[in-house]
Amino acid sequence: MLLSRVFGRIVKGLPFLLSEVRLLISCHTPWMVSVPRSIHLTVTERCNGLCKMCFVGMNNADKNFRGQSKVEIPKEDTVRLIREAKELSGSSFYLALIGGELLLYHGFAAALEESRKHNISLTFTTNGYTLNDTNVNDIIRSNPMNVSISLESIDPEINERLRSFKNGTRKTMEGIDRLIKQREANNADFSVIIKSIVTEVNFRQLPDVVRRYAKIPKVLWNPQPFYHNADGVAEHMADFSVKDVNELREVIDEIKELRRQGYAIVADEETLENFIDYFRDGLHKERVRHNKRCTLGYTHMFVSPSGGVIMCPYILKSVGNVFQGQSLKEIWNSPEAKAHREEMASCRINCNATCSRPVPFLTKVKTFLRM
Ligand SMILES: C[S@@+](CC[C@H](N)C(=O)[O-])C[C@H]1O[C@@H](n2cnc3c(N)ncnc32)[C@H](O)[C@@H]1O
Ligand code: SF4
Ligand code: SF4
Repeated sequence: MLLSRVFGRIVKGLPFLLSEVRLLISCHTPWMVSVPRSIHLTVTERCNGLCKMCFVGMNNADKNFRGQSKVEIPKEDTVRLIREAKELSGSSFYLALIGGELLLYHGFAAALEESRKHNISLTFTTNGYTLNDTNVNDIIRSNPMNVSISLESIDPEINERLRSFKNGTRKTMEGIDRLIKQREANNADFSVIIKSIVTEVNFRQLPDVVRRYAKIPKVLWNPQPFYHNADGVAEHMADFSVKDVNELREVIDEIKELRRQGYAIVADEETLENFIDYFRDGLHKERVRHNKRCTLGYTHMFVSPSGGVIMCPYILKSVGNVFQGQSLKEIWNSPEAKAHREEMASCRINCNATCSRPVPFLTKVKTFLRM
């Protein structure tokens, strides 16, 4: 049973291994053979959240922004883009649907169905407030690669200091339980990932999230670095940066110990350690933090709701637009993308992106087998 599962995972993982080989060739020879291994479609800006650490939530709470129309990719275009993503990347990629809040997107069920039809590894993140029977059934039917649900703490007082939604903690936790229960009942095999941002408000409670969820089969916990724009747009956000890195160290040590005890934590020990550096040094655009070649331009593509395509989520330089007659493949192979890819390769911004902290190959294999 175990052997057949491992064998199944290895077969499924071969295209991803091939993608690693393509990346090596593209980075070290004149031949550009990489295709995106990760395509992010921001299909909606709409959200019901009021999170204080997120610009979407802040805009929702601000009466000057309230009532402003939010951009969404029309359902038909999302379906077309999913097909184009498959044509470009074959079977060695995953598709991330991004929001706003995905469960509110009018094309959510159609996007799930199209991805299922093409056997695409689909992933998305939700706040979980509306993980009701209908949404859960749609998810179960499409059997995505994984579903991430954001939860900053299992203590409502702490969670709702960041995620200021009335009874939001209860709703999210009930949604998670419903999803896990239905996943079992229907023998679906997708992973559930609980995502928590590491901030001053919640970092002390993070081990409780790990203990609550990360021993349930196929449930993993993934910590995220808190990102904030330090140019004065949202001053209160600076308060969410971890202040006492020594205290953070104690919590990180506790989390590392939980990882050793078998709790399923996506971040490896080095990545967990890096959270301490991140909060000590911050995101400084001008600062050289690593000497590694940035490979994101060879592996990632991000489409905004207005159709613009970027390759770095921090530099935000557009290399094409999917609503201006270009397919994803044409944009990926365009002179603009090539030039930006080369600029990115020598970028040394301390951005905390996966490019600057490559995950060891063995860790990738272990995480993959666990999912
Ligand atoms: C923008 S949300 C969209 C999905 C969904 N609405 C949700 O809350 O999960 C995607 C992820 O970004 C995270 N996020 C929001 N603001 C952030 C910030 N300032 N720094 C880092 N992550 C943030 C959320 O916690 C969530 O896991
Ligand atoms: S629910 Fe998600 S997108 Fe909405 S405000 Fe919160 S973090 Fe931002
Ligand atoms: S290293 Fe530079 S180019 Fe690469 S992801 Fe970070 S900010 Fe973008």
